[in-house]
Amino acid sequence: MEIRSVGVIGAGQMGSGIAHVFALAGYDVKLNDISREVLDRAMATIAANMERQVARGRITAEARDAALARIHPTLELAELGPSDLIIEAATENEELKKTIFRSITPHLAPHTILTTNTSSISITRLAATTDRPERFMGFHFMNPVPVMQLVELIRGIATDDATYQTLKAVVDRLGKTASPAEDFPAFIVNRVLIPMINEAVYTLYEGVGTVTSIDTALKLGANHPMGPLELADFIGLDTCLAIMNVLHEGLADTKYRPCPLLVKYVEAGWLGRKTRRGFYDYRGETPVPTR
Ligand code: CAA
Repeated sequence: MEIRSVGVIGAGQMGSGIAHVFALAGYDVKLNDISREVLDRAMATIAANMERQVARGRITAEARDAALARIHPTLELAELGPSDLIIEAATENEELKKTIFRSITPHLAPHTILTTNTSSISITRLAATTDRPERFMGFHFMNPVPVMQLVELIRGIATDDATYQTLKAVVDRLGKTASPAEDFPAFIVNRVLIPMINEAVYTLYEGVGTVTSIDTALKLGANHPMGPLELADFIGLDTCLAIMNVLHEGLADTKYRPCPLLVKYVEAGWLGRKTRRGFYDYRGETPVPTR
C-alpha cells in the first residue's frame, strides 16, 4: 500500500518534528491538537527549523515553501480519520492515548494504518483499544526528529507483515533508518538510554558529582553529544519519569526505580527546556546548573 496522506495527533515537540519531516518528504499532513495556541506554536517552530535548514543549504527555499503548504493544522481529530497513515504523538500517558484511539476509530477509513510514537507503552495494549490491531504499530521517532536518523518499528502481537513493510517503506522515503524492536517496555533505545539518565540523576542525588561535572564527564569521557542531564532536560523530565515508571512496573525489577530527585523535579514542574527550568535554568542568556 502506498501512503500519501498522514495525520499527526499532538503538536508538541515530537508531533511538530514528525509533521516537519513528512511534509519535506512530500506527504500531505494534517496536524491536530486540542489547543489553537499549541498548533500556532508548532507551525512557527516548523517554519523556524526549516529556515535553519535553508540557511545551512540542506534544503531550498522552494522545498520549504512547498512543505509548509502541505501541513494543515486542525483542531478536529475526526478530520484525520481518512488519512492513509495516522501517527499519535500525544503526551506519554496511557489513558490519554487510549482515549484518543477510541475517539478516532469510528472516523477511520478501512485501509488506514494507525501508529503511536509512544516511547515506552505496550503496543499490543494500545492496539487492543482499536478495531484494527493488525494494522497498528509502534512508530518511534527520536528528538530532534529532523536531525535524528533512527526510527524504531515495533510490532504488536497482531500486527501483520503488510503493515510492517508499508511503514518500513515510509521510513526509507523519509531518508531515515528503521530498527525493528519487540514489544517490551521502552523497546530498545529508551530501555538503554533512560536508565542511564536515571543513573546520572542518582549520581547527582548522592553527591558524586555536580550537574556540570556529570555532563562534562559523559561528554568528554564517552563522546556523548550532550551530557545525560542536559539530554534529560531536552527530552523532558516528565517523559523520562514516565518511561522509568513503565520500566519499573512492566519489568518489576528494582534496578529501574526512578530516582527520588527526578520525581522531585517533576513535582516542582521543572520539566526541562519546555518549562525553561530543569537540571539547568534556561530563563537567562545561558543555561545555569540548578545544583
Ligand atoms: N530541526 C532541524 N534541524 C536541526 C534541529 C531541528 N530541531 N536541531 C538541530 N538541527 C540541525 C542544525 O541545523 C545542524 O545542522 P547542520 O549539520 O546541517 O549544520 C545540526 O542539526 C546540528 O545542530 P547544532 O549545530 O545547532 O547543534 P549540535 O551540534 O549541538 O547538535 C543535537 C544538536 C543534534 C541535538 C546534538 O546535541 C545531539 O545529537 N544530541 C543528542 C540527541 C539525542 O540523543 N536524541 C535522542 C533523545 S531520546 C529520544 O528522542 C527518544 C525518546 O523517546 C525519549
